[in-house]
Amino acid sequence: MKKILLLPGDGIGPEIVGEAVKVLSYLRDNRGLDIQMEEAPIGGSAIDACGQPLPEETLEKAREADAILLGAVGGPQWESLPIERRPEKGLLGLRSALGFFANLRPALLYPQLVEASTLRPEVVSGLDLLIVRELTGGIYFGHPRGVHVREDGQRVGVNTLIYTESEIRRIGRMAFEIARKRNRRVCSVDKANVLECTELWREEMTNLASRYEDVELTHLYVDNAAMQLIRAPKQFDVMVTTNLFGDILSDAAAMLTGSIGMLPSASLDELGKGLYEPIHGSAPDIAGKNLANPLATILSVAMMLRYTFEDSATADRIEQAVGQVLDRGLRTADILSPGKRQVGTREMGDAVLAALERLDTE
Ligand code: IPM
Ligand code: MG
Repeated sequence: MKKILLLPGDGIGPEIVGEAVKVLSYLRDNRGLDIQMEEAPIGGSAIDACGQPLPEETLEKAREADAILLGAVGGPQWESLPIERRPEKGLLGLRSALGFFANLRPALLYPQLVEASTLRPEVVSGLDLLIVRELTGGIYFGHPRGVHVREDGQRVGVNTLIYTESEIRRIGRMAFEIARKRNRRVCSVDKANVLECTELWREEMTNLASRYEDVELTHLYVDNAAMQLIRAPKQFDVMVTTNLFGDILSDAAAMLTGSIGMLPSASLDELGKGLYEPIHGSAPDIAGKNLANPLATILSVAMMLRYTFEDSATADRIEQAVGQVLDRGLRTADILSPGKRQVGTREMGDAVLAALERLDTE
């Protein structure tokens, strides 16, 4: 029996996690998936309920779980709180406390959605890249940090970009190993022309490459990488980068696929335990309106099956079911294009479930 902890969070989080739970429940009740699900608060809703974004009880449950499915955190009502007590700290605290250092963010363009991308079809069709983002280090966690008043009376804001060589090697190995299962190309993204920390990053990646001679390693500065992602994204297979650069580049990569509402992610620890979440945010403007796209969260369940439960057959079926729903022309608002049928969050979830059932009886 595997334990899955559900952390719906804020904004559209509860709606999209609800649709993913439909899929998990179906697999449990009809396909013998041996799971038990439990829910806990995180983010703004946890601040409202318990006074903090990552309550001790949530962290305890997360430690006991085999996998975690998270919706999204954050919202305007908590933005005036000090950074230490904001909803985002709940997510960052969870990633850090459980050592989820490797964030895998695939950007895959479903051929059915080629019209939904803002880029020309020939630029994006066939796109299949994976961003491997370092998730528990770098400027997100470095010290010193904060805002203080200097001797001359000026307020100063400080954050620190810091990586140890072992942190760099750990995420590098992950990228090379994954590239071996894909097209054997790794592009490491840094700012080695300006930042010493990423000079070390580049050096360590280069050293690692000698142990993976079957994988091709290239390097790009982050500004160029951003440009290349928009200019010719199909040149990439695996991109490996720091926490902050990965945050930024993965939003850009998401838009190549038509909508950020399509992109799942997996954050893994050293043992393969994972936190699974869509890469998009809590979208408070559309929360509770049955408008959000649940596919990124449903696809995150597929990643959970693939990486933590080592059940790639079921993961494939979920992805196939999503493809079929898109084939039928169903679209949430974010991926709508002329001639397609707009459906809500719940209808989209139901359609995936129906497609999954059909696949199972074929
Ligand atoms: C993401 C998000 C988070 C991050 C926020 C919500 C803390 O943007 O997962 O990409 O910056 O990592
Ligand atoms: Mg982000």
